[in-house]
Amino acid sequence: MRTIVHLSDLHFGRTDDALLTPLASVIAKLAPHLVAVSGDLTQRARTTEFQAARAFLDRLPEPQIVVPGNHDVPLHNVFTRFIGPLDKYRRYITGDLDPFYADDEIAVLGINTARSLTFKRGRINSTQIERAKTRLCALDPKITKIIVTHHPFDLPDRRDSNERVGRADLAMDMLSACRCDLLLAGHLHVSDAGSVATQSVDGSHDIIVVQAGTATSTRGRGELNSFNAIHLEANRIEVRRYGWRPLDSVFQSMGGESFGRSAGGWKSLSPAP
Ligand SMILES: [Fe+2]
Ligand SMILES: [Fe+2]
Repeated sequence: MRTIVHLSDLHFGRTDDALLTPLASVIAKLAPHLVAVSGDLTQRARTTEFQAARAFLDRLPEPQIVVPGNHDVPLHNVFTRFIGPLDKYRRYITGDLDPFYADDEIAVLGINTARSLTFKRGRINSTQIERAKTRLCALDPKITKIIVTHHPFDLPDRRDSNERVGRADLAMDMLSACRCDLLLAGHLHVSDAGSVATQSVDGSHDIIVVQAGTATSTRGRGELNSFNAIHLEANRIEVRRYGWRPLDSVFQSMGGESFGRSAGGWKSLSPAP
């Protein structure tokens, strides 16, 4: 049994600071085996924003798998945007743009989809896909394989395909062939979880896709701030959403969704109570 806390779109520079301590407290109580942060740590990729994000990450449990988002690439400073787009991210957050964690139950790989050119949408390239394939396909089938990106490869209800990362289909073919189990993403500031069907030469394989809302940004797009706590067993995965309750100043469980492993991958079970 493993627990992963999945945070996204912190957006330091546009945070509601009243949420920071309650968020760190509830995460400490959940005592996760790993914290995954799926990008957009800052609002405008400013030094002070990265410093604040770094200070907050230091309050959270280790190990952490963190990937950058489009907001972590400078938008207005054209020189740094193209010459050293992730220099500040590397300096303050992590120099590892291919973070990887594995134990005897889970393997978690972070992939950077933030780009200078396709600023908002993001992209995965063939080198990254090959590298992920080498890492994931070789693992014992008993190990639950998890990918963390900022931009989604796929979405629970197959919304507008423009919201999927560039070259998503190529990536999904690899993830299906490697029998990947769970994809964690953000970017949309809307939380959601579901199972999507994939097809590879080895047959069909359903993968769980999870979107985290924004944990701390004031730009919630109609949703309350939230994050996910994901409980993983060999044949069952539960994605539980914690939402901000402003009147009580706490993050509280708001229900979730459970999935069961079958021969064709992961199927949605009845919603978790
Ligand atoms: Fe964002
Ligand atoms: Fe984003």
